[in-house]
Amino acid sequence: MPPLPAIAQPSNQKPSKDTTEMHTKMNSFEEMTGGTGIKGLYGTLTCLSIQLCLYAMVRKAGLRRSSVFVDIGSGINRVLFHALLYPAVEWAFGIEFDPVKVLKAVAAFDYLMQKMPVFKAAMKNKSAPPKANCASISEVGTLSPATHAFTFWVGMTKAAKMAIGRLWNNCPSLKVSSRVVV
Ligand SMILES: C[S@@+](CC[C@H](N)C(=O)[O-])C[C@H]1O[C@@H](n2cnc3c(N)ncnc32)[C@H](O)[C@@H]1O
Repeated sequence: MPPLPAIAQPSNQKPSKDTTEMHTKMNSFEEMTGGTGIKGLYGTLTCLSIQLCLYAMVRKAGLRRSSVFVDIGSGINRVLFHALLYPAVEWAFGIEFDPVKVLKAVAAFDYLMQKMPVFKAAMKNKSAPPKANCASISEVGTLSPATHAFTFWVGMTKAAKMAIGRLWNNCPSLKVSSRVVV
């Protein structure tokens, strides 16, 4: 088989200085508070992995600045904060059933606003701060107004995954028909 042609690596496959700094700050926050709560699995992706997921959504599903992004099982909102910096979506919200992680997500946002002037400046251009809704995905009625949905659903029950599928299929604001699986 002939060798595959070399593929140029566009620079935005790499996390920017700002997103890298945001993750460093979030790591410090987690060292102080822990990332765990009282239910659900603890687990997150690295800065590079989140960047590659979002980059795939930009390339294949039209994620852009005007988008509204939802993370289903949002933990302490790390993915939301990343999406607000790259590709700098208009608004981001999460759905998280663990009330302790939701409280930590609020504290993490305040921490970034205090410790990271670039993050604070980026938030000035948003219509509203990010929000984590404390609810099980099985109890949520709609994913509206999300235009793009993300989930890292490791540890979720089969019932929760089925609920995500139903909500995803029935949400008119999720216009994109392609699904990006990375
Ligand atoms: C693997 S973690 C991912 C956290 C976050 N998205 C990230 O990547 O940093 C999965 C999250 O889903 C939450 N979760 C599990 N079952 C859920 C459910 N039925 N409804 C809402 N959130 C749920 C867990 O509490 C956990 O925070």
